[in-house]
This record gives sequence, structure tokens and C-alpha cells, in this order.
Amino acid sequence: MYRYLLPVIALAATVSSHCTRQGLTEAVDSYLTAQTSGQTTEFKARFDNSTWLGYYENAVKKDISTGIINTPLLVTHNKTLLDTVNCMTYTEVIANDPKDPHTIATQLKFANHKVNRVDSVVVKPGDWLFNITGYSYWVTQEDWSEIPPEKRDTRDVIKKAADAYLDLFNNPNTTVPWGTPCVRLEGGLYGNPGPNGTCNVGVPSGVPIGNRRYVVDETFGAVDVLVDFGNSKWPDSHEFRIVNGKIRYVHTMTHCGIPNCGMRC
Ligand SMILES: *[C@@H]1O[C@H](CO)[C@@H](O)[C@H](O)[C@H]1NC(C)=O
Ligand SMILES: *[C@@H]1O[C@H](CO)[C@@H](O)[C@H](O)[C@H]1NC(C)=O
Ligand SMILES: *[C@@H]1O[C@H](CO)[C@@H](O)[C@H](O)[C@H]1NC(C)=O
Ligand SMILES: *[C@@H]1O[C@H](CO)[C@@H](O)[C@H](O)[C@H]1NC(C)=O
Ligand SMILES: *[C@@H]1O[C@H](CO)[C@@H](O)[C@H](O)[C@H]1NC(C)=O
Repeated sequence: MYRYLLPVIALAATVSSHCTRQGLTEAVDSYLTAQTSGQTTEFKARFDNSTWLGYYENAVKKDISTGIINTPLLVTHNKTLLDTVNCMTYTEVIANDPKDPHTIATQLKFANHKVNRVDSVVVKPGDWLFNITGYSYWVTQEDWSEIPPEKRDTRDVIKKAADAYLDLFNNPNTTVPWGTPCVRLEGGLYGNPGPNGTCNVGVPSGVPIGNRRYVVDETFGAVDVLVDFGNSKWPDSHEFRIVNGKIRYVHTMTHCGIPNCGMRC
């Protein structure tokens, strides 16, 4: 009779053998090493070529050999979210090099414990409110520490908070779980970091935000969403920190290819 149990055990093992924080972290380290050195061989050895979906920069599919990952960048900050349910990662990369400043928002997607999509928003001077000094400084002033297990929001709460914020741009009647304070870091421009700081300022209307790709990490109460921003579908990353169900920080990077996205500040 035991032999009938074996397939059940095998199935359970398959179902539970999804990605681990350690496995995802190793791949992200490999990605960062590549971006720091410009050497991609070791990173590419982690690709699942049989299910390969592509290397994307600013929503354009490219041959990885033509990507920014081949250019060594002085990486001065990195922060990663790990999504062990969807087997994806998000990394916020800052290269605060006065000679070649960038911020990069990269999601890695996995299949069979290997990377099968690289999806980056790559931002540099001229992009929306870009200010490497501001971006580099303000991230050090925020608390993105791990949230104690008993205080963690569910994935659903975290994702819904992000969706409410993104929906607000196209429907002013959306109820958003604003935290107090809530501060937005937009390109490099920072909101009011004081006790009354609010993110409910400067939100335009009539701006649909579509093609949302989520990476949720409950341990940090955080979610990154890569999106097509507005009717022009600008490649954009919105990352949120949610504490007790409320939005505390929003980090945005937007690439539009024309200075400040053609807008005046
Ligand atoms: C996947 O293909 C690339 C060439 O595009 C190669 O460099 C890499 O080693 C391959 N990865 C694996 C795991 O075979
Ligand atoms: C990424 O950040 C961690 C600290 O959070 C640091 O230990 C590591 O060296 C950084 N990696 C790179 C490539 O800068
Ligand atoms: C960039 O950000 C820094 C720090 O917030 C600020 O002091 C500086 O004035 C900003 N530069 C521009 C051009 O806005
Ligand atoms: C928002 O609510 C107002 C008042 O109820 C309504 O007139 C308007 O159509 C609503 N807008 C949207 C986009 O649903
Ligand atoms: C915050 O708002 C409260 C209530 O309006 C006000 O009393 C307080 O002075 C404000 N604090 C700051 C730092 O602006």
C-alpha cells in the first residue's frame, strides 16, 4: 500500500519546491555583479534558456549583449525584494557616479530556479525629475527594515494598496490607504518628510497606468510594480512600502526619452 503514497509525496515535493529566498538572492547577487563589472557570463549561466522570455530595457526587448548590463556601473546602493510565491525579484539600483549617474529598477523572473526574464527601467539625466544626489540621499533616510512576522500585512493587502495608488491616477474616487507621513521619492525629488507629509499631492488625473508587473515581499511590506505610465506608456517603476496596511513610501523611476517627459515642473 505504501507504493500508492509515493506519487502523493512526489507531488507534494514538486508543489512545495518553489523558489527560496536564498536561491533568489544568489541570482540577484549575480545580476549585481554583472552590472558592476560589465561581465555577464556568470549571470547568463543562470538563465533558463528553454523558457527564455527576454531581456528588456525600458519596455524594449533587446539582445542582452547590447544592454546596459555590459557597461560597468559604480553601484552605490542596492535594495532587493524577493517574491517567493511568484518567483520574481525586484532590485533598486543606484549608481551615484557623477560621470555616469543612473538609477535602475530591475525585475527578474524565474522558471525552474533559473532566470527567464530580465525587465529593467533604466533612468538617467533628462528623465523625469532625475536627481542622483536626491535619490541617493533620501533612500538612506527611510526605514525599509524587516517587519516583525506578527505585524506583517498579507500579500493581498500590500498589492491592493499599490493598486489603489495607481488607480487614483485615472479615477479620483479611488480610496487609497494613505499612511501618515507618506513620502514620495520621484526620480530624485522628495516630498515632505515631516510628520504631516502626504503623498496625496501632485497626483494628476486621466492617467491610466497599465501592464502592471508585481513583485511582492511581505517581509518588508513592500511591492514593486513595473508599469506603462499614462497614455504615452512610459516605462516606469513604482515601489511602495506599506506598514499596517498604509502607504508610507513611494519610489518612482520613469523613462520617457524626452527631457522631463516634455513637462515643465
Ligand atoms: C543561455 O544562453 C546564453 C547565450 O545567450 C549563454 O551564454 C548561457 O550560458 C546559457 N545559459 C545556460 C544555463 O545554458
Ligand atoms: C548590495 O548591497 C549590500 C548591502 O545591502 C552590499 O553588501 C552589497 O555589497 C551590495 N552589492 C553591490 C554589487 O554593490
Ligand atoms: C537634488 O537633490 C538635492 C538633495 O535633495 C538638492 O539639494 C538639490 O537642490 C537637487 N538638485 C536639483 C537640480 O533640483
Ligand atoms: C467620481 O464620483 C463623482 C461623484 O460621485 C462622479 O460624478 C464621477 O463620475 C466619479 N468619477 C469616476 C471616474 O468614477
Ligand atoms: C502638522 O499638522 C498639525 C495639525 O494641523 C499641526 O499642528 C502641526 O504644526 C503640523 N506639524 C508640522 C511639522 O508641520
